[in-house]
Amino acid sequence: MLTIENLKIEFKSHGRRVAPVDGVSFSLGQDETVGLLGESGCGKSVTALSILRLFPMASQARLSGAIRFGERDLLQADDATLRSIRGKEIAMIFQEPMTSLNPLHRIGDQLGEMLRIHTSLSRQAIDAKVIAMLERVGLSRAAQLVDEYPHSLSGGMRQRVMIAMALLCQPRLLVCDEPTTALDVTIQAQILDLMRDLKREQKTSILMITHDLGVVAEMCQRVVVMYAGQVVEQSSVEDLFDRPAHPYTHALMRARPALDATPGASLTAIPGSVPPPGTIAQGCRFAARCTRAQDICRQEMPVLENLGDGHSVRCWYPH
Ligand SMILES: Nc1ncnc2c1ncn2[C@@H]1O[C@H](COP(=O)(O)OP(=O)(O)O)[C@@H](O)[C@H]1O
Ligand SMILES: [Mg+2]
Repeated sequence: MLTIENLKIEFKSHGRRVAPVDGVSFSLGQDETVGLLGESGCGKSVTALSILRLFPMASQARLSGAIRFGERDLLQADDATLRSIRGKEIAMIFQEPMTSLNPLHRIGDQLGEMLRIHTSLSRQAIDAKVIAMLERVGLSRAAQLVDEYPHSLSGGMRQRVMIAMALLCQPRLLVCDEPTTALDVTIQAQILDLMRDLKREQKTSILMITHDLGVVAEMCQRVVVMYAGQVVEQSSVEDLFDRPAHPYTHALMRARPALDATPGASLTAIPGSVPPPGTIAQGCRFAARCTRAQDICRQEMPVLENLGDGHSVRCWYPH
């Protein structure tokens, strides 16, 4: 369904080019939920934005590689093609719904806009669909809600509105960037439940971006672990929890407060932080924080090596 090949994203920063994503490859199958896991700053969001090229103009992002969606390479697609795909075939849900909802427009008009752009349904049919979808995502009083503005809703309700908006056109792929991170734990669990149910009904593929192993355990079949702009490990969720191979993944597991998956668990317990893009010239990017690092790790970049069963790792001394 979606294949990202050797994706590189460069920005101009203080007069020089930096690459927060540097040679990332992974794929996502029909009806599959894949987690993109990693600490803050490792390049997850810019990877997501590159799929639909949603960068602000000012960022002067330069992209190379390929992003294959069905027959098309989205990196080569023109603006008209991208507009026809956005919202209809691929929808996105962000961490902070207020940045994606327009505060000046009523909820109903914003959702209806999706269907006006992408379908030829009548106004009445659109209204009915919008109300039905708001009810489906668990919002009561949907018929009144359509006339309200985003600021009158709670964070959890706004995220439900975003999910309704994303699913209205029955996209084939849903890209979720930390969809529950801004919500408190009980609401997080409800939203994840809702997404799982909707996924079962609509058979949408999901790319689930998160820093939260609990979300991965609950939602995903496969995981891609990113570190400092690269994929460092990739495997099924069972394998990742049973046999994490990369020392970084190991550290993420140990940083968790408990073995059972609690949404909201943070990954702050690994000493040090993700190096900013462009600061590591050679070797493994995790070496400075790694308890297993040897000389070669600081000198030569390991390649992603296949361990079998779809499990691969980028490490000289994997577990
Ligand atoms: N528009 C931009 N210009 C320059 N650097 C950027 C831009 N957007 C993101 N970055 C940098 O790219 C890196 C990865 O960011 P991001 O994808 O947001 O990480 P994550 O989502 O994993 O927390 C960070 O170092 C960030 O500062
Ligand atoms: Mg992010």
